[in-house]
Amino acid sequence: MRKKIVAGNWKMNKSLQDGVTLAKEVEAAVSGINNGVDVIIAPPFIHLTEVKKVISKVKLSAQNCASEASGAYTGEVAADMLKSAGVGYVIIGHSERRSYYKESDEILNKKVKLALANGLTPIFCIGELLPEREANKHFDVVKDQITKGLFDLSETDFKNIVLAYEPVWAIGTGKTASAAQAQEIHAFIRSLIVAKYGKAVAEDTSILYGGSCNDKNAKELFANPDVDGGLIGGAALKADQFAVIVSSF
Ligand code: 13P
Repeated sequence: MRKKIVAGNWKMNKSLQDGVTLAKEVEAAVSGINNGVDVIIAPPFIHLTEVKKVISKVKLSAQNCASEASGAYTGEVAADMLKSAGVGYVIIGHSERRSYYKESDEILNKKVKLALANGLTPIFCIGELLPEREANKHFDVVKDQITKGLFDLSETDFKNIVLAYEPVWAIGTGKTASAAQAQEIHAFIRSLIVAKYGKAVAEDTSILYGGSCNDKNAKELFANPDVDGGLIGGAALKADQFAVIVSSF
């Protein structure tokens, strides 16, 4: 049975002190929820070690990692450093990294491999832009992203991937994909995994939805058979709202 996951991507928000406070609030708010959902938070890099000290049920993710293992790469944080700090997951390929920092499929593929080699679980993001959706190209776009980013992995490695479908037009816009739109493309993504790795692997792969998912719409989105949880931005910065999303299964 694949895991149900709700992950909060804090993006570039919160001072260290406010981040630790939020992490404590999230831990308290979700500690009583026993619906089998894995709860993950992804604070900025410098928060990770302090946040790690105040969470136990909640798991820890980074928002990015370097595409090289170590050395002269000023400003970068390596996958093995994250592992040594007690981090379990890393978001790779978020649309904000793809668009603002020009991270190509090739770079993201290198990051995925380094994350896996260091025992981190990648939360690999895919999703189309608005013009691509309007041109009915969203299936081709996600197929291309997943093929170039992930499909040269061995089956053993692929089993450690969590996918997040985030339509770029829904991120931070208040415009959510409808439950039907989410189900349609999640089922398509799962069919790609069936074709590449077989039905058993595909059935075990968690595919999260992200993009203006909140305490009001999570229940309807998560009710779809191929939506295994959410990658939450804005609503992850409020512990009470985030907890409602966690309890939406
Ligand atoms: P919002 O929930 O703010 O739309 O952000 C989604 C997202 O990008 C999560 O990674």
